[in-house]
Amino acid sequence: MNINRNANQLRVCVGDRQFGLKEEDQMALSMSFDTVIRPYFTPCYRAHMVPANLDLWDYDTVKQAWQAIHDSVKNKKMPVAGCAEGVWDDRTRDQFIADFVAWKAGGFPK
Ligand code: HEM
Repeated sequence: MNINRNANQLRVCVGDRQFGLKEEDQMALSMSFDTVIRPYFTPCYRAHMVPANLDLWDYDTVKQAWQAIHDSVKNKKMPVAGCAEGVWDDRTRDQFIADFVAWKAGGFPK
């Protein structure tokens, strides 16, 4: 048996099997910047924000600007029109906010 602490979660493994985790904990473990957060930021969104000194593909930048990014999306200020992907509908916006909040609550896993 080995025990790893990862992203403030306790993971208990026997061989490669995990046990004793509730479904929501399993979901928290699979939540990370690379797998869940960064895919929201398309190449076009990123390219538009880099000149404004906000590289949406950079883990530390996004973590540091968490509140500002959260607020700009929540208040429907971002993303603005300018990319083919366009602005986000309410469903996408709500899903992003839920994921972004869970990412923070999980200790900003990379
Ligand atoms: C801290 C959060 C953010 C701030 C302060 C911010 C600020 C800005 C500002 C000042 C502009 C205007 C630049 C211009 O007029 O050319 C801009 C443009 C834009 N932003 Fe953001 N932004 C934020 C987050 C985001 C996020 C999270 C996305 C995408 C998911 C995004 C997507 C865009 C896009 C697509 C434009 C296009 C403007 C154009 O057509 O040139 N931004 N942003």
